[in-house]
Amino acid sequence: MGFWDQAQGAAIFKHAILRQYAPIFVNKVGRRSPANRVEILDGYAGQGWYNNGDPGSPAVFLETAELLKNSRQVHCTFIEEDPRTFAKLKEMLDQTGVPHERATILPGTMSEHLDEVLQRAEGVPLFVFVDPFGLGLPFEELVGKLMRPQARQAPTEVLVSFIRSAVYRQIGLLHPETTNLAQLRAARSKVIELDRDLGGDWWRKLEGTSADRLVSQVRDGYIDHIQEACPGLKVLQVPVADMTDYKPVYDLLFFTRHDQGRWFFNDAVSLARPVFADHCDPTGFMRPQLFTPDAEWEAEIATNLRQLLAQKGQVLFLRDMVQVYGDTLGKARGKHVKAAARKLVTEGVAEGDTKTDPHLIKLTAKRLRAVS
Ligand SMILES: C[S@@+](CC[C@H](N)C(=O)[O-])C[C@H]1O[C@@H](n2cnc3c(N)ncnc32)[C@H](O)[C@@H]1O
Repeated sequence: MGFWDQAQGAAIFKHAILRQYAPIFVNKVGRRSPANRVEILDGYAGQGWYNNGDPGSPAVFLETAELLKNSRQVHCTFIEEDPRTFAKLKEMLDQTGVPHERATILPGTMSEHLDEVLQRAEGVPLFVFVDPFGLGLPFEELVGKLMRPQARQAPTEVLVSFIRSAVYRQIGLLHPETTNLAQLRAARSKVIELDRDLGGDWWRKLEGTSADRLVSQVRDGYIDHIQEACPGLKVLQVPVADMTDYKPVYDLLFFTRHDQGRWFFNDAVSLARPVFADHCDPTGFMRPQLFTPDAEWEAEIATNLRQLLAQKGQVLFLRDMVQVYGDTLGKARGKHVKAAARKLVTEGVAEGDTKTDPHLIKLTAKRLRAVS
């Protein structure tokens, strides 16, 4: 089966996350943007729809634009390098009759077109999806043009697919098992390409105890380098597999300057999980009928909250999000943290307004009154 015949599990999860998150981003940042404009850049667009009609990322972004057309002016730019895939994308867009003001398609590489897209998006919030087959943009373009605070003033969020097998193959070229000169040269240029994309040759010193470990170390180093270059940038990473309990095919790395962006992206991931579960097990046969993990997540979050309250006396859910969720990050969402907060207030452990939106909750440890 070809890549574009039908979406595999990983793509179904990825698109479910985008379908949840894109409208939230557009709605929030478009509220105060000039003429309620929002730009979306899908820099590795693919053909838009799979051959069986399943939506690809361009189709999902266009759904968002259509959904919010009465209140937000969304414009999407789709870039695709492969000429045949580009022709298919163009044909699909023509067939669906997408209005011209809503989408621009550009043949070529994301690097080639990035400056013109950024010019168009100047002063306007921008969501960027970097979804290559291998590693994506050169580090300096990704960080220097999209992520550094001085690069863009308007809200900008970037979602990068870190394709694990492609990175592993490229790492392997550091020690090629060949004496063939042409192959050695090709390997060398791929290694230099990886230096360029990862922001240096720091990865060459890593020695993972397994392929998986090594790739995870490279991913973590990549995130660290990005965050070092962009102080204050927050990240949320989501492993994405083809089936439940399979090893991840890629890690989605979500970068934002805004606590709320990270909060609502996590909600989107949580809400996308049932779509993935239905894909993996359409009849529900493998899932126990009465089992829902909600109570377990709420209990785990309540434990995290107790610890945080003991340490700090006060928990701001948005600021302390990573510790509040702990191991349930990327699984649980706002409704679970709210339930955990209510439990603690009911038990008299903490006080705070738990009727508000989950990300606005602030809990304070309740002092035990001395018994005279
Ligand atoms: C994983 S697919 C994209 C899938 C798509 N984002 C989706 O979710 O439906 C990667 C696409 O990027 C294209 N591509 C590869 N290198 C590129 C580059 N440098 N710039 C733009 N597109 C590129 C490939 O031809 C391929 O269609």
